[in-house]
Parts: sequence; C-alpha cells; structure tokens
Amino acid sequence: MNAPSGAGKDAGAELQALQAIETHHADMLRQLNGLVGLLTEAVEAQDAGSEEKTQAALLDWCDTHLVPHALAEEGSLYSGPHAMPGAKLLVDGMLAEHRVIVDLVEELRTASGVSAAVAAGAIQRIFALHLDKENRLLMPFVVESEDLSLAQAVTGLHELVGEGASGHHRQGHEGH
Ligand SMILES: [Fe+2]
Ligand SMILES: [Fe+2]
Repeated sequence: MNAPSGAGKDAGAELQALQAIETHHADMLRQLNGLVGLLTEAVEAQDAGSEEKTQAALLDWCDTHLVPHALAEEGSLYSGPHAMPGAKLLVDGMLAEHRVIVDLVEELRTASGVSAAVAAGAIQRIFALHLDKENRLLMPFVVESEDLSLAQAVTGLHELVGEGASGHHRQGHEGH
C-alpha cells in the first residue's frame, strides 16, 4: 500500500481537515481543563469523596479520549512527516511528549490527594503545549507538503477529528 500521497490534493479538503482537528483539540482541552479544575477544587477542599469521584472521571476521560487520540495520531498523522527530513526531529519530539503524557496518566492512576492534583496539572499543561505544536507546526507542515495529505491522514478517525466529522465533509460549517 502506498503512503498517503499529497499529489493533486484538494486545498479545500486540506483546510477542512485542519479546522476539524483544531476544533477537536480545542474541545479536548476544554474538557480536560474542566475535569482537572474539579479535581483540584476537591483536593483543595480536602473532600475525599469528591476527590475520588473527580479523579476517576479524569482518568476515565484520559483512557477513553486522551490516550486513544495520541495513539491514533502516531499511526496516520505522524508517520508521513516522520519520514521526511524537514519534520523528523519535530515528530521525534512530539512522540516523546506522548510518552510523557501516557506516563503521567499512569502516575495519576495510583496517586491521591496533592500528588493526584500535581499529576493532573502536569497533564493539562503538557497537553496544551503539545496540541499547540500540532496545530501550528506539524499540521501546517503536512498541509503545505506536496507529498502528504492531511485530509487522507485523518479520514475515518474520530479520535482525531471528533464524533460526527470523521470520514465525511462537515455540512453547514459556519465561517467565523
Ligand atoms: Fe499528539
Ligand atoms: Fe492531537
């Protein structure tokens, strides 16, 4: 099978894929900020019951959204630019950040109290920094590359573009 080819790619589809991932990243960061905020409040209030509940909710979200998102990226989105000299080092750095995020999720799983809040805060800040690199460096590289296609890389992957946007062109996407 050939690698995703950007030959003759459709600029509109590329832009649409870029926007879909950016929107999904923003949705993810909003959800993560909310969950981490609730855990931090519970720890500050020394409310053990609420701590347990908010930590479980955050872990569940990491297991069902954050980690699958990272793994899905490593397949289709990262492999193309990783094979190109202009982006190899960037992708190496991004992969290393994925490992740190996954390790922090495992740390959060067994932590409690202040340690759990510290791990949660680290996940939040590192993910924010990481997705900014994806939005501003990695995806524009793919869009501008003659040999790669962002639209092809994300086709059918709801982990990358969110529910309802995978594999289909979004209908009624309002400009803003
Ligand atoms: Fe990533
Ligand atoms: Fe991402």
